[in-house]
Amino acid sequence: MILFINACVRGQSRTKRLAEVLLEGRREEVTEICLERCAFPRVDEEFLCRRDRLVSEGKLDDPMFDLTNAFARADEIVIAAPYWDLSFPAALKQYLELVNVVGITFRYRSDGVPEGLCRAKKLTYVTTAGGPVVPEEFGYGYVKALCLGYYGIPEVCLVQAAGLDIEGADAEEILQREIRRLREEKA
Ligand SMILES: Cc1cc2nc3c(=O)[nH]c(=O)nc-3n(C[C@H](O)[C@H](O)[C@H](O)COP(=O)(O)O)c2cc1C
Repeated sequence: MILFINACVRGQSRTKRLAEVLLEGRREEVTEICLERCAFPRVDEEFLCRRDRLVSEGKLDDPMFDLTNAFARADEIVIAAPYWDLSFPAALKQYLELVNVVGITFRYRSDGVPEGLCRAKKLTYVTTAGGPVVPEEFGYGYVKALCLGYYGIPEVCLVQAAGLDIEGADAEEILQREIRRLREEKA
């Protein structure tokens, strides 16, 4: 199962269009989680206490962990997230806060080093940016660090189209160039 985490907000999202090209023709089942439609709980003290209690009691199939278990069990993961304020929409951070659960997506070895528990071998991060560059550190780089340092997902790739909002830029042509590249790569 490919887990498609859709963090796009706009109806005409160009990031989502790129992700759809990446996913087209795949024979595996694709399960989409549209973060815009998720009512995320507030991760407050009460939430954390309940979560810790469920984990310590081994109740990892509690509905509280549905998103976490889906992430941990996916064979491959695709995230689509527009580049917002040097990072990504807040809903993706809310989602990742729910997914990071000791005992489901990772555990600590006795020497304190995190060890990944996720099945996926590959995560692709799809993004588009208004400006000319997508620096790694706060968006894609952050997700990549989680994959490599916690989840145990060894292959992390970036698909991007940048410069879409620059005055005079032909956004559709930039997008089509990346779409052609993706289709050629798959052929
Ligand atoms: C709230 C918001 C914040 C943004 N922040 C940035 C930014 O920091 N850097 C940048 O290059 N573009 C920024 N943009 C422009 C988007 O990255 C660009 O329009 C992108 O293609 C939007 O993706 P979408 O078509 O999938 O919605 C921002 C757009 C919005 C709406």
